[in-house]
Amino acid sequence: MDILESIDRSKLPKHVAIIMDGNGRWAKERGKDRVYGHHEGVLSVRDIVNASAEIGIQYLTLYAFSAENWNRPKAEVDALMELLVNTIRKEIDELKKNNVRLHIIGDFASLPEICQKELNEGMDMTAMNTGLNLVLALSYSSRQEIVNASKRIAKKVADGTLKAEDVNETVFNEHLYTSQFPDPELMIRTSGEYRISNYLLYQLAYAELYFTSVHWPDFRKNNLYEALLNYQQRERRFGKTSEQIQTNSPQHV
Ligand code: IPE
Ligand code: IPE
Ligand code: MG
Repeated sequence: MDILESIDRSKLPKHVAIIMDGNGRWAKERGKDRVYGHHEGVLSVRDIVNASAEIGIQYLTLYAFSAENWNRPKAEVDALMELLVNTIRKEIDELKKNNVRLHIIGDFASLPEICQKELNEGMDMTAMNTGLNLVLALSYSSRQEIVNASKRIAKKVADGTLKAEDVNETVFNEHLYTSQFPDPELMIRTSGEYRISNYLLYQLAYAELYFTSVHWPDFRKNNLYEALLNYQQRERRFGKTSEQIQTNSPQHV
């Protein structure tokens, strides 16, 4: 049977987060420059965005550039920033057509001005779209995000606009970049690394983790469907026992 047909559309994760890893290794295996791998990776981004929109995923967060990635060789960083600008320019009409809304999380101000301008335009031009929410994590560090949230909360407590005893998970969540999004139920990392690399540490508390050895430029629709199918075969227990889950509540809420 077609893998797509095996997926239960009523039990899809609302939010899928992906660490798009392995562009460099993919290129190296072909005797090419790392940047070639990043260019090919954009084709996978397009494919996965389209597949996610088609199947009915509501939020897709893609780790495109970490705060730590600034430490890569300047030529690679420059190439990635240029690729970002060109990709947004090229893909924006497609995003509009497919009812996709663009969001950015991360240290926006640290991005080159030209990137900020292009991304702001992209967000404005898709702001009315009601389909897939495409969230790009750029210059993103989860620890920075948590520290910033703590700092903003501390300031509110200090100036009297918030009481310390009123700080709870809801309030904390409101101070994260992801305040408007539900937590991801599924996190996918490509290219065979079993780590989180400073990605959505708070938000992934109860996410199902899916690791595949496929490098990002080879990760296409069918690979996403496999991950979704795998997710649907898991039992999400949230601290309860298997018996409680099976008798009391629906597995995917
Ligand atoms: C992911 O691929 C893309 C970015 C981090 C920007 P990598 O560039 O990390 O590729 P590998 O892990 O070196 O193969
Ligand atoms: C994580 O990949 C960041 C992105 C995919 C953008 P890295 O390749 O930078 O992560 P590490 O260095 O292997 O942990
Ligand atoms: Mg990598």
